[in-house]
Amino acid sequence: MSLARILVVDDFYNDLESSARSLERQGFDVVRASGACEALGIFKRDPLSIDGLVLDNNMPETSLERLHEGADFSAVDSSLGRELFDQQNNIRSLVSPYLISGYPSNAGLLLASAVRSKGFFGEIIIQTHYPKDAQLLKDKLGLKVIEKNGNWEFTSQYLRERLQGTNVIPVELNYDETSEAYDSEISLSIPGHTELHNCIKAVMGEKYFGLQPHVVELGIGTGITAEAVLQSAPRSRYRGIDFSKNMMGVAKKRLKDYNVNFVLGDYSLISLGEEEKNDFVVSVIGIHHQESNYAKKKLFYRVGQSLKKGGAFIFGDLVTYRDQREAAFNDALHYHHLVTHMTNERALKEWAYHHKFLNKLAPLEDQVQWLKEVGFRKVDVVYQKFNTALIYAVK
Ligand SMILES: C[S@@+](CC[C@H](N)C(=O)[O-])C[C@H]1O[C@@H](n2cnc3c(N)ncnc32)[C@H](O)[C@@H]1O
Repeated sequence: MSLARILVVDDFYNDLESSARSLERQGFDVVRASGACEALGIFKRDPLSIDGLVLDNNMPETSLERLHEGADFSAVDSSLGRELFDQQNNIRSLVSPYLISGYPSNAGLLLASAVRSKGFFGEIIIQTHYPKDAQLLKDKLGLKVIEKNGNWEFTSQYLRERLQGTNVIPVELNYDETSEAYDSEISLSIPGHTELHNCIKAVMGEKYFGLQPHVVELGIGTGITAEAVLQSAPRSRYRGIDFSKNMMGVAKKRLKDYNVNFVLGDYSLISLGEEEKNDFVVSVIGIHHQESNYAKKKLFYRVGQSLKKGGAFIFGDLVTYRDQREAAFNDALHYHHLVTHMTNERALKEWAYHHKFLNKLAPLEDQVQWLKEVGFRKVDVVYQKFNTALIYAVK
């Protein structure tokens, strides 16, 4: 499976091929388009299939001087830029336009400024070797500028970091090796783990007791969350995804009396059951391993796509907060909880390391916003303690 799929648009065959091949060598799947219409066609057919956009297309070259003169960015336009942007507008938090332009006065700039003027959500990067232009772009448009023109290794590395889904593989997680110990330690290490699961039970029991909902869990682990769900809605048709065989082994024992389909794989890469549509998607303490905000948003979008209308996503996770003081205060309480609840030094060392260096926490407020942006019509924080939060989102 490739890292991500990048659409490269260039009307010069040699440039298209050299950009595309450089990206392919770095592990990306590349879709080539030799012009605007072709690029638009690809977006229209399947916008979800494109993770990033590299654009070096031939478009009006008038803007740079105007930018230097201090022109209003909204005055700067480009036809492909507009069209692509309009195309992406409904899914604007999904397709992140990673624009890379070898020449600062060309299309990339035009598109970047046109898109920025519309308040585009995604990140835009420009590759240029003109320091003066780089400064202008940074200052005026707040763009990420890579000042190394033509250095695809560097740019690919940047893209790789931004687009990558999960930030760890199972063996890097302390609980993969010690899945038995994990089972007893997780509820101690996560503040509010028991209360959060009580909320899940209450929601499931109220909504689905006696019914047979299709449920998917992202990161079934040793089956603690699944057990809570299945106790409240025992007739659920449950699909539990996890990329750790060891964790899943414990879940299989725990859930032997229930109807569970265990799927070994990385949920940022495999199907979430979009075909048959789910009534319920649940994930507890796992999505913080999505590398970037982009990866988290994309996963939220995919969860939404996998749900029936009226279906719900119940999402518990470790989070942070936009306000730095609030974030620091809750971090302190979180680590204090770890210190007071871990029963031995090995456990404290492992969980402290895991929480400090492996977890990629996103602000709770941002995550609520992203869920709304990708189409959930009602998003509520139903439980919160320190860095632990439970969100209930209805499609
Ligand atoms: C901390 S455990 C939580 C399990 C359970 N929900 C609980 O609360 O006890 C998170 C689980 O998610 C799994 N996981 C994390 N990222 C994953 C991914 N991208 N794909 C599949 N499983 C993943 C881990 O292997 C782990 O078993």
